[in-house]
Amino acid sequence: MTDTAASSTTEAFRVVRNPNPATDAERAERLKDLAFGTRFTDHMARVTWTADEGWTDRRVEPYGPLLLDPAASVLHYAQEVFEGLKAYRWADGSVRTFRPERNAERLQRSAWRLALPELSTEDFMDSLHALVALDEAWIPTAPETSLYLRPFLIGTDIFLGLRPSKRVEYLLIASPSGPYFTGGVKPVSIWVERDFHRAGPGGTGAAKCGGNYAAALRPQIGASERGYDQVLFLDARTNAVLEELGGMNVFIVQKDGTVLTPIINGNILEGVTRSSIIQLLEDQNLKVVERDITLAELREGIESGEVAEIFACGTAAVVTPVGRIGAEDFEVTVGSGDAGPVTLAVRERLTDIQYGRAEDTYGWMHRIL
Ligand SMILES: Cc1ncc(COP(=O)(O)O)c(C=O)c1O
Repeated sequence: MTDTAASSTTEAFRVVRNPNPATDAERAERLKDLAFGTRFTDHMARVTWTADEGWTDRRVEPYGPLLLDPAASVLHYAQEVFEGLKAYRWADGSVRTFRPERNAERLQRSAWRLALPELSTEDFMDSLHALVALDEAWIPTAPETSLYLRPFLIGTDIFLGLRPSKRVEYLLIASPSGPYFTGGVKPVSIWVERDFHRAGPGGTGAAKCGGNYAAALRPQIGASERGYDQVLFLDARTNAVLEELGGMNVFIVQKDGTVLTPIINGNILEGVTRSSIIQLLEDQNLKVVERDITLAELREGIESGEVAEIFACGTAAVVTPVGRIGAEDFEVTVGSGDAGPVTLAVRERLTDIQYGRAEDTYGWMHRIL
């Protein structure tokens, strides 16, 4: 295996144990029938930043409500960024995460855009090691489950003036989770949103900040009311070019085997799953083209049969087939409406690497325990 060996890098984080952790029976109960993001472990990792002292007081402490002043800047001006990654329990008992340095680097880029201090990759990695080691018993083992890790930064200055917060908290919480979409690999339907955008040129689309997701909620309600599962956003300048879903990147598989995906243009999130899938597809000798894709072209392609499959991808939902696309003036079924062979094969290849069922020839899996 080419993975990074487990290292004991947790010295920097002092541990304050939860005096009332879940009992074995309570934990076993909470690890049953897992959905996504509803249950949390006994501890959280934390580092405090101040403008005067920089990053200090690395610790793991009991999971629980935060004491925030009502004037804290995050509550008013949304100075917040976050990440999402998973820890997987392998059959040999080891615990791995998938390309976590990518999440550390993206958190730094997001922080820069939101005028938050950048947490070093070392602190990020150390926080993962410290929390996962302490809450190891919470890592679920049932198929398709994992420990979802949610690192985030919030501005906590007690000041209503508009300026970058001089006090910031980095927090890492962990959630034993099952599949994001219930019911197996079932195709989802997507509504193409023409009235609302999640990002515009020069905005925060490439950053993983809470505000982007808040902006996507109203369109998501509209899509649900029309009977669609997810929203596909178009670019804000021309309203014609595909960008991404509220929480996933998108891929289009053509009949000739060419795969298209929107180019990283500053408006969409550069998904870790997206770049990994590009590599996996190319290594299967499929041609992947990153470019602007218009809605008109997509619709024509689906109608003519030139577009064979569409799938969405991201850490939470992994690879999800898209079966139907609609907007005010059209509704089309993609291919047969079921998951296609390229989608299923890349999903299997990726999850086999993540869960240790296939050799990780890329060195993507980072060993935690
Ligand atoms: C808007 C958006 N696009 C794409 C992704 C996929 O990114 P990743 O594969 O790194 O999870 C996510 C999920 O994190 C997202 O929130």
